[in-house]
Amino acid sequence: MSNKKESDLNHIEADFERFMSSLEDSPALYLKIVELNDTSTYAPPMKAAPHVDWAYALQHRCLLRDFSNIVSHHREYFKSRGTYMERGPACLDIGSQHSFIIPLSVLANFYVLDAQFPDDVFNGYPSTGIIMLPGEAQKIPLKDKSMSIVTSMHAIEHFGLGRYGDSLDPHGDVRGVREVYRILTEGGIFIGSVPVVSKKRERVDFNRTRLYYPETFRRILMDCGFQVKYEEILCAPHAKFSSPDERSLTGEIYHTEIKKEEDIEKIEAVCGEGNEPDMVYYFIACREKYEKET
Ligand SMILES: C[S@@+](CC[C@H](N)C(=O)[O-])C[C@H]1O[C@@H](n2cnc3c(N)ncnc32)[C@H](O)[C@@H]1O
Repeated sequence: MSNKKESDLNHIEADFERFMSSLEDSPALYLKIVELNDTSTYAPPMKAAPHVDWAYALQHRCLLRDFSNIVSHHREYFKSRGTYMERGPACLDIGSQHSFIIPLSVLANFYVLDAQFPDDVFNGYPSTGIIMLPGEAQKIPLKDKSMSIVTSMHAIEHFGLGRYGDSLDPHGDVRGVREVYRILTEGGIFIGSVPVVSKKRERVDFNRTRLYYPETFRRILMDCGFQVKYEEILCAPHAKFSSPDERSLTGEIYHTEIKKEEDIEKIEAVCGEGNEPDMVYYFIACREKYEKET
């Protein structure tokens, strides 16, 4: 037994003895049996996370707000289709943090696609409203025009970079967006987000991520056939945004029109060289009801 393990055990035994001796004058205890057994281990106290991931928090707020608005606007449709798993999910998520999607699955059933799921992923709990699909966004294993809503928060920028075990493809992001278009019903809605920087900083930071200028990503959406219905740039609060003026740049959720590149540059300047701010382009795009004649 290592010294560390031994000292952990001593620690538990000492705590156990103190715990038991304090029981002697507690006759009204609800649980009467106290065990110290082979599975007893000493865990140091849990520390709270040192910070909130604001970029994720802001996106989550937007997604929850918009998804629940959309579902309540189409209440009859989601009542008849969205919450009955036997009819299959009406929504697909690609690569978002699962903690984003689990609360949404209360409102509508979801397929969750992720390149990291094993081929034999366990799907034993369809009553949770989530079916996990292994696969790549560049080749979504679903039929044409089969999903009403697709969500993808902070994942598209990774498609095709191989970081998560998916196939290398410099056009992976565009191919993924095209696939989303293919599987959406006419009038279907795509809600998503990608990280953004100023025009002069946009790049592929291989194999970590792509960083887009917002207009570039908007162009990708439009070139793939989407109509962009709504967009926001979310800027995570930063320790350097200290003066009231600078704070008003971020606010709670920093809204800007897409054309205001200079605002993004201003925020970057405040953060300083090598200290890129966390900024996100959040969008709602729509597959048009009637396809344009080409
Ligand atoms: C930034 S992470 C999102 C957070 C992560 N899903 C979680 O729950 O913590 C990006 C996710 O996108 C997935 N991903 C990356 N490339 C993908 C691709 N080409 N197709 C499908 N999923 C992909 C990754 O496996 C990863 O889970």
